[in-house]
Amino acid sequence: MGVTVVDHPLVQHKLTIMRSKETSTASFRRLLREISLLLCYEVTRDLELTTKTIDTPMQEMEAPTLEGKKLVFASVLRAGNGLLDGMLDLVPAARVAHVGLYRDHETLEAVEYFFKAPSDLENRLVIVVDPMLATANSAVAAIDKLKERGATNLRFVCLLAAPEGVERFTKAHPDVPVFTAAIDEKLNEKGYIVPGLGDAGDRLYGTK
Ligand code: PRP
Ligand code: URA
Repeated sequence: MGVTVVDHPLVQHKLTIMRSKETSTASFRRLLREISLLLCYEVTRDLELTTKTIDTPMQEMEAPTLEGKKLVFASVLRAGNGLLDGMLDLVPAARVAHVGLYRDHETLEAVEYFFKAPSDLENRLVIVVDPMLATANSAVAAIDKLKERGATNLRFVCLLAAPEGVERFTKAHPDVPVFTAAIDEKLNEKGYIVPGLGDAGDRLYGTK
């Protein structure tokens, strides 16, 4: 399935501003939303189309339209919501799942505190969004849970990934393609991505 690095110049430029520690919460939030539009474009690039008959003001035509059931965006709370907002701008009819997970700062294990998803996940494409793929403990736990609830067709979108996280994720869920704006150098001893951008949730919501 593999990993796609979205190297579009606008994505890379905006990501650089987000990484800077001088960037304000307001700018960070706006930039994440903007980048999410571009990541959404990429992750939905091969969605299947069918046609339907419509009347333009000029004549009848067979026009392309998305095939199948509405897709689901699954946001890994909290920081996933920063990507979710932009994705919903592009696909406003999408359904939304929320997966509440936080990283235990000592063990780096993902701890679940909330889960709510549409009941018919098996019939839908589920696009999981979370800006950071560090150890991948959170992403793997989120996908485990969604699969347990019936999802079979999944994709994972993040902003930044660590090589260690990519390796663990693709081993745990080889059937789930990953889309990211960058793969950084490594994880530090506290499990943070370096050079990275710090704590995505804190920067997004100003909770440091
Ligand atoms: C961050 C991030 C991911 C997770 C990535 O969330 O949004 O969910 O860490 O790290 P991992 O790959 O090592 O699991 P965090 O736990 O800080 O929660 P928050 O979004 O509520 O701030
Ligand atoms: N979570 C974050 O928000 N940032 C990191 O660098 C790693 C995990």
